[in-house]
Amino acid sequence: MRLDKFLSNNGFGSRKEVKLLIKKKRVSINGSFNVKSDDYINPLEDKIIVDNIEVNYQKDYYFLLNKPKGYISATEDNFQKTVLDLLPDYSYLNLFPVGRLDKDTTGVLLITTDGQLAHRLLSPKYHVEKIYIATVDKPLKKSLIEEFKKGIIMDGDLTLPAGLEIIDEFTARVILHQGKYHQVKRTFEHFGYKVLVLHREKFSFLTINGLKEGEFRSLSEEEINKLKKL
Ligand code: URA
Repeated sequence: MRLDKFLSNNGFGSRKEVKLLIKKKRVSINGSFNVKSDDYINPLEDKIIVDNIEVNYQKDYYFLLNKPKGYISATEDNFQKTVLDLLPDYSYLNLFPVGRLDKDTTGVLLITTDGQLAHRLLSPKYHVEKIYIATVDKPLKKSLIEEFKKGIIMDGDLTLPAGLEIIDEFTARVILHQGKYHQVKRTFEHFGYKVLVLHREKFSFLTINGLKEGEFRSLSEEEINKLKKL
């Protein structure tokens, strides 16, 4: 991948800013300062140093995306835009979304290269909390709160108790501790409701606070460690 892209992806500023760093001879590749922005490097093999500090190749990457509508939760597709299209070109990494949000669902989506962590976070054993805001097509009945708690039969099993908080006539907060395919929509459907709008506001302790739709950020060390200890 291009040197300027690599540095930009690793937090050294915009492409314009890293070009300036390179021009000022503050960047070396394998000991040589004779470098250009469009030099191609192998992030896994080449030693890149900026101001005497080695740009460490991270073992794993962790991003939090505020997913907009219209993107599928997949790594590639011939016809549709995927959530990876919203990140810079990290094609040299094997990033993937942790679980799935439907194409029309917005909100918190974790994207990582860490298969072990993803496996844990998605495992029904760990009961990671996921919170959604759903807008439905009919006035919400209070009795649904008890029904969601009881669970329904889905794919042959009783779902775990789910929380339902009615926000207003057509909007509710749904709290799940598992992640079956289309779980929120299918649960409402079971009770005769159609979900018109769905947004995930929380995945465990992670929220999209501060991120506009389509924006992403890297997780902090602290957040990564916290996720690993869930
Ligand atoms: N449940 C759904 O029905 N859709 C989503 O995108 C996430 C949870």
